[in-house]
Amino acid sequence: RANPTNHHKFLDLSSVKELPESHAWTSQNNDYPFSGGGAADGSSETVPIVDLNSGNATELIGHACKTWGVFQVVNHGIPNNLLEEIEAAGSSLFSLPMHQKLRAARAADGVSGYGVARISSFFSKRMWSEGFTIVGSPLENARKIWPDDYNKFCQTIEDYEKEMKKLAGRLMWLMLGSLGITKEEEEVKWADPKEESESGSGCAAALQMNSYPACPDPDRAMGLAAHTDSTILTVLHQSNISGLQVLREGGNRWVTVEPHPGALVVHVGDLMHILSNGSYPSVLHRAVVNRTRHRLSVAYLYGPPPGVKISPLSKLVDQYNPPMYRPVTWSEYLGTKAKHFDKALTSVRLCA
Ligand code: SIN
Ligand code: FE2
Repeated sequence: RANPTNHHKFLDLSSVKELPESHAWTSQNNDYPFSGGGAADGSSETVPIVDLNSGNATELIGHACKTWGVFQVVNHGIPNNLLEEIEAAGSSLFSLPMHQKLRAARAADGVSGYGVARISSFFSKRMWSEGFTIVGSPLENARKIWPDDYNKFCQTIEDYEKEMKKLAGRLMWLMLGSLGITKEEEEVKWADPKEESESGSGCAAALQMNSYPACPDPDRAMGLAAHTDSTILTVLHQSNISGLQVLREGGNRWVTVEPHPGALVVHVGDLMHILSNGSYPSVLHRAVVNRTRHRLSVAYLYGPPPGVKISPLSKLVDQYNPPMYRPVTWSEYLGTKAKHFDKALTSVRLCA
């Protein structure tokens, strides 16, 4: 795939009155059925909603992971005001003048900071979105943006990261639990919060804030092109404006993940796909945009500690179910993804 030209790299989308050719997508720019403008197929099928307080949450999650690769959770324990605060933090950031956001521009070879969607380089058309990525402490970049006034933003981010870490860990164990994997298993000791020690082990994560300004021509634009997440799992807060879509059976239908009050969306990521030896497929998803409303989403990207090799869990492997993938660390997998993008899982496959 061609690298996009750079001249529109930091186009201020909120001031654009007509969709530029650089941002106009056709089916040629995408390997998947293309329909913009939130035009999902209108079927009545909806992404499962799981109540974490219900007695059978484990089974419901296992079923959703097998059949959808995505679900929404309610009663997840994240306080409502924290969800409101993270949204407000995102809004205040993205509504800043471009020159101020660019003080924290992501370096060409970097991960954290402000910039275009990180998957942009795989597509020849530009996406109708901007992003801000945080790994660990937001302090350094927040200070560049608001030299005298970064405290509130940082506090909110840190509170949110702390709560998300707990929730993501809990969700991971529910997913694994449904496959019969418990915390006793030696193989998944890296995932046990008790193992989180002085050595700085414990799961790693990043926070990805996405902003999708209202778009003059949403049917031809793309907020975030189709992709799977290179995570164990992702916890997504998508406020109350729809835009997230997931690909369904046979790969020919997009289904909108309708915002549900107070719910968070959970994506099965590629590394969970590998751990589960393919029984939990990572979900292909994208974000579409709309004509009138600015949309914001905040994704918590959850992965294994640095250096830990992820491979199909031995309990899920036997002579009839050989391991489908070779062991990879998170960073090795990201390297593979950077080379192959939508073929990354295939490229770590062991057998046909
Ligand atoms: C994502 O894919 O990480 C974000 C999707 C969304 O904005 O809903
Ligand atoms: Fe994603």
